Amino acid sequence: MSLRNVVIEGDPILRKKSRPVDEITPRILKLLDDMADTMYYENRGIGIAAPQVGVLRRVFVVDVGDEHGKIEFINPEITYREGTQTFCEGCLSVPGKNAEVERPEKIKVKALDREGKEFELEADGLLAVCICHEYDHLEGILFIDKAINGVINTVEETEE
Ligand code: NI
Repeated sequence: MSLRNVVIEGDPILRKKSRPVDEITPRILKLLDDMADTMYYENRGIGIAAPQVGVLRRVFVVDVGDEHGKIEFINPEITYREGTQTFCEGCLSVPGKNAEVERPEKIKVKALDREGKEFELEADGLLAVCICHEYDHLEGILFIDKAINGVINTVEETEE
């Protein structure tokens, strides 16, 4: 297992736009593996995007604990959005904060898997929230930018 350091809000890297992956090299596969390790290791992480470990590539990993398990996305595109839902979001890069954010209720997303094969996924509920949140990281957008009425809550960090 290898963990990477999580970049924290205030670091300008989180505000940059990530570049597409043009070739799935061993380095990209290692990045995916390390991102998943880091996500599972960090408290309650359900998603992580490459800029959060300091790599400006269009890659993210999610696992919301549903039947899909871990899903890796390379060069994702959200191709369809429907409805709205509000969810109280947090982020490994914004420790001690959460906020209500409005997201689509249902989405379709297209991406490459680690073999370079294109797949399309329909997601709703928490999985849709998580994918939209991670996709925003690739654009340099954080959930706090989208807080409803600008309300950002401070939450107590619990050590386990
Ligand atoms: Ni995040």
